[in-house]
Amino acid sequence: MSFDDLDRVVVLEKAVFSSPWTVDLFLYELNHDERTVYLVAESEGELLGYVGAQVLDKEVHITNMAVEPRVRRRGLGSELMLECIRRGIGRGARWVTLEVRLGNDEARDFYHKFGLEELGVRRNYYTDSGEDAVIMAPGTYAPRITQVSSKKSRAGSPSRGTSANASPGHRDVLRRVRGLPGGRRDHNPLQCRRLADRPAQRIRRGVPEIAARAHVEAIAPVISEALAVSDERPGVVAVTAGPGLVGSLIVGVSAAKALAWSWGVPLVAVNHLEAHVYAPVLEGLLPEHPFLALVVSGGHTLLAEVRGPDDIEIIGQTLDDAVGEAYDKVAKFLGLGYPGGPVIDSLSRQGNPRAVAFPRAMLASGDYNFSLSGLKTAVIRYVAKLEAEGAEPLPARDIAASFQAAALDVLVKKTVAAALDRGLSNVVAGGGVACNTALRDQLARECDRKGITLAYTSPALCTDNAAMVAAIGTMKYEAGHTSGLDADVYPNLRLGEPMPGAG
Ligand code: KG4
Ligand code: ZN
Repeated sequence: MSFDDLDRVVVLEKAVFSSPWTVDLFLYELNHDERTVYLVAESEGELLGYVGAQVLDKEVHITNMAVEPRVRRRGLGSELMLECIRRGIGRGARWVTLEVRLGNDEARDFYHKFGLEELGVRRNYYTDSGEDAVIMAPGTYAPRITQVSSKKSRAGSPSRGTSANASPGHRDVLRRVRGLPGGRRDHNPLQCRRLADRPAQRIRRGVPEIAARAHVEAIAPVISEALAVSDERPGVVAVTAGPGLVGSLIVGVSAAKALAWSWGVPLVAVNHLEAHVYAPVLEGLLPEHPFLALVVSGGHTLLAEVRGPDDIEIIGQTLDDAVGEAYDKVAKFLGLGYPGGPVIDSLSRQGNPRAVAFPRAMLASGDYNFSLSGLKTAVIRYVAKLEAEGAEPLPARDIAASFQAAALDVLVKKTVAAALDRGLSNVVAGGGVACNTALRDQLARECDRKGITLAYTSPALCTDNAAMVAAIGTMKYEAGHTSGLDADVYPNLRLGEPMPGAG
């Protein structure tokens, strides 16, 4: 597969899968051709199918496979699979693995024919529907695949080579490891230093296995870097056990277990959302309980009454998209790249927030829930209409400012109303969107008017970071909560839900 094939590949992908890969994901994989095999089948210039795999050590892991519906049941899928496996074996692989949707009987039958067996199920693997994935591999992990690979293709290979013209591989830049700004350290009751950021940020909303792979690649260097700047060996290892993408969580939890075991120190599994709520403790800004928490990130938008670390009640949340997700989707539509929050934040400062009256969904719903998907659609429709009318250039600043005004209006009003209704005089805002300058200003102003104290951390501690995980981990440890080396991951863990299995 070459970059020129991508347009056609994405068309077929969209026709075949309910939750198709984007061009960006294919690009990311093609750019890593040192560890991927991507093949297309074509006839007379028409794309008929493709297969993609990652070759990891001794394993060919099939990530994509699609055949044009018209030409199915003619052996093309098998040709593609075989050629892909052959190339994997050429690079030293010894077996093949893949995940398939539990409900995709046709694909499961197809893979059975290759001698793959169903070894287990990964619960809630697919983030779009929460559907389980069946893990398939040769039952014995025996070199059965080697025999398959020696079978000659019947009609000659329909496949073309891998991306020979791939540009130099994209490398996620690991942000420099550093401590908290000096001035703040004195106020830091936990002395948790910020050691490293999550490196797979760019593709975090992507497909589980790619995100997991990025974690596998990054985790050892990140740990080494973190240890290199740390003067003492940690006394506790804290790790995010959920919520999040299952593969990424497994990588983190496995690494944490290995460290805890080899150092002989306790392991504490923590809830990512609790880490956001308690992040202000790192800067000495955490109010006394009870307080209201607003968590606004790429995956969550919620309000919770926090009466104690083990007594958190969600009182409202988004019914569809998270607010960060809306920022990201709108930015993508406007061609502003990922993540969308920071760029919309800065563009909005130069735009007119009253230029377009976008909907303020659920403003008067009488509860603390949110809905962002209608706003996102309204923005997309508005832009499409302008484009159809030939508007050039698009008034991106005004659109960004108007979108942001609509999104923040509801967030600010509901947060203040919730605090007043519940008699809470302190509010904590956390999560990536809490970096937003307009949200900070507006929420601070409204809280101030109502006599409410607002706390939020510096931006680096609002977006995902390891220090907040260490902070909540330390608090949990001091309260006597640890996890065993059999700790599991929980992709759908809710804020306030007790950590399963923790003592
Ligand atoms: O908490 P976070 O780092 O990751 C999750 O747990 O989701 O949040 C990431 C989200 C992204 O959607 C990003 O666009 C958004 O936070 N974000 C912002 C800003 N900075 C990051 N949204 C609005 N304004 C910002 N300045
Ligand atoms: Zn987060």
